[in-house]
Amino acid sequence: MNETYLRQQVKSILNEAWTEPGFCVPNSGVYPHQWLWDSCFHAITWAELGDDRAIVELESALASQYTSGFVPHMTYWNHPELHQEFWGRPKTSSITQPPMFGHAASELHRRGYEIDEDLRYRIEKAFHYLLKSRTRTSQGLVPIYHPWESGCDDSPRWDVFDKSGHTSRFDVDDWRTTKSQMVGSLVYQSDGSPVANPLFEVGSAGFNALILFNFEEFCAIPGVIDRPTVRDLQSEYQILRQRFVAIWSEPDRTWVDDSHCRAGNAATADGLLGLLVDPKPARFEQLRSAAAFGSQYGCAGVSRTEPSYDPATYWRGPSWPQLNYLLSVAARRAGEQELASELQFSSLRGAETSGFAEYWNPDTGTGLGAIPQTWAGLAIVST
Ligand code: GLC
Repeated sequence: MNETYLRQQVKSILNEAWTEPGFCVPNSGVYPHQWLWDSCFHAITWAELGDDRAIVELESALASQYTSGFVPHMTYWNHPELHQEFWGRPKTSSITQPPMFGHAASELHRRGYEIDEDLRYRIEKAFHYLLKSRTRTSQGLVPIYHPWESGCDDSPRWDVFDKSGHTSRFDVDDWRTTKSQMVGSLVYQSDGSPVANPLFEVGSAGFNALILFNFEEFCAIPGVIDRPTVRDLQSEYQILRQRFVAIWSEPDRTWVDDSHCRAGNAATADGLLGLLVDPKPARFEQLRSAAAFGSQYGCAGVSRTEPSYDPATYWRGPSWPQLNYLLSVAARRAGEQELASELQFSSLRGAETSGFAEYWNPDTGTGLGAIPQTWAGLAIVST
């Protein structure tokens, strides 16, 4: 593994994907628009490469923000009319994605980039929307209103919502139909921000972990904690933190979702993102164990203990570079240095073997999904 060569490869993948007015398309064929959390990860990768497009991409990720603070998960910059009927508006989608801009801003700041007033203002507004405008679930979590909001849309965590009647088998086509129907049932406030969905409201453990982590990261940037809006959000943040800590389930070895359906407790990698905010040493064990998530090529996206585990199917078992990165950050910060390095190294091995794929088979490194995909570049970022 030649690190200099891998960095050059990442730089050329990002260069190739660069699109005006200032973002990377995740893959020009499969994903030719802007995605929110992808762009935050690209910003971190640009910063690792010492390229000023780090700031440009973070700014463009937040540029389509609504008055409420809501940030759409997709922006169709160069084709505003595309999917207008589907989303009920031009230019953007009507749902969000994990708020990775808190961590991205903090990483950029750490690497010497200035997070200016406009960015600070947009980020605090985005947290204001998430922490204040979304009515909490019965267990006090922030709900997501669509599986796409989690970033992990075909995860076994949502199988309980599959209305297709296939109780024993996941059917990708039926689930696609259900996901479309779940866009039709979204409820919006006057500026077009989503505020409810009778068909899907879930206190997703992964999403809530990322709200907490990203808010903490944002607050760690000098000066941020003194901003009146940020100060005003501290009590919501504290309450969410207390509620989040309480959804850990010892028998399930994971943080469990909260919803009106049976609680999603499938052992998934995103279900362990709570390690970023509540890092108890024993909870890292399963990331090492080859019987659960431990793999040669990053970490499996679903534990091998799950009956639904399928190492080659989208969100049903493959290894994802952005989750490997986040779990490595969690391990590094918790002082689990060996695990952090192993996750980083094995993810890099996966990125290289797969040709910088969107995701890959955790046992063989075989590339899956779009190839190359920009966020695989995260594998070169030191955690
Ligand atoms: C897939 C992923 C989603 C990602 C998008 C663009 O839909 O599930 O998380 O943002 O691709 O890469």
